[in-house]
Amino acid sequence: MESIVITEVALRDGLQNQAVTVATPDKLQLIRLLAQAGVTSLEATSFVSPKAVPQMADAAELVPQVLSALPDLRMSVLVPNAKGLERAHAAGAQEIAVVLSATETMNRKNINMSLAQATDVSEQTLQAARARGLRTRAYVAVAFDCPFEGAVPLDVVAALSRRMLDAGAQEIVIADTIGSASPGQVKQRLGTLTQCVPAQQLAVHFHDTRAMGVANAWAALEAGIRRFDASVGGIGGCPFAPGAAGNVATEDLVLMAGQSGFRCGIDINGLLDAIAFAEQLLQRRLGGRAITWLQRQRDKGVAALAA
Ligand code: COA
Ligand code: ZN
Repeated sequence: MESIVITEVALRDGLQNQAVTVATPDKLQLIRLLAQAGVTSLEATSFVSPKAVPQMADAAELVPQVLSALPDLRMSVLVPNAKGLERAHAAGAQEIAVVLSATETMNRKNINMSLAQATDVSEQTLQAARARGLRTRAYVAVAFDCPFEGAVPLDVVAALSRRMLDAGAQEIVIADTIGSASPGQVKQRLGTLTQCVPAQQLAVHFHDTRAMGVANAWAALEAGIRRFDASVGGIGGCPFAPGAAGNVATEDLVLMAGQSGFRCGIDINGLLDAIAFAEQLLQRRLGGRAITWLQRQRDKGVAALAA
């Protein structure tokens, strides 16, 4: 059976958009539940301006706690600039992700930089991170459509991906930030992108705004991609990208992959425990497309669906 790797992003992409502020011990507990479910790769937080994203103000407290509680977890943190890298490194983070949007306006709205500036800063941050022996990811955000500029040219996405790879990114994350991609487009874009970046170093990050998240993930699987971002319970949405819904739900992705012959080591019943806890924290119902059916299976005593 072939394997895929899922990077859980609920703690960062998911929580950054929530009205309720989640306390640091509760974030740690959610991470513990996810690790118990079999999650091995997780983006825990971002070292960004607390004014821009108040939910991430506790990044420097959370990271050392996760490192000591779960030393085997592969934990990444998002950093937008040199200051973010300094703070992440000081907190002990061993893996960072930079975020470069493929359009002028999205970079302005997200990190207050032009596209050229954001590209330079991301390159410098990656180089500095590699020099310190850190592992690196680079998001290429709005890699399909931009909420401000519309359709994003594929050659721009390809060129930025290549630049991030050359600057030392070990993984390039092609992000459908607003959830506008369709499976045909995913197939076409990844067909080209795998010519510029080795498929093993490409990851995909889908949002489920138009209910095509799982179908897009399948198109990516067929294009040879084996690394996926997902958010448990589908928590999420970007505060700087109007109209974006949450990420494709981890439980939906695990179900689809498992039923299609790909293992990821994650137990769906364990994810349901994490979702129940997150529902208490956020005081609302969570879950992706399959949640009702998955809960019914669990309640009937059906053993873990995928692992
Ligand atoms: N972490 C914490 N604080 C930071 C920071 C970082 N990585 N980078 C800058 N700051 C602080 C500066 O020290 C300064 O603080 P002060 O007002 O107390 O002096 C303030 O933020 C403004 O700094 P400046 O360099 O002028 O930044 P800016 O106002 O142009 O904002 C970002 C740029 C990148 C810091 C900000 O837009 C940001 O944090 N964006 C994150 C967006 C995000 O998380 N999006 C979702 C993920 S894709
Ligand atoms: Zn996202």
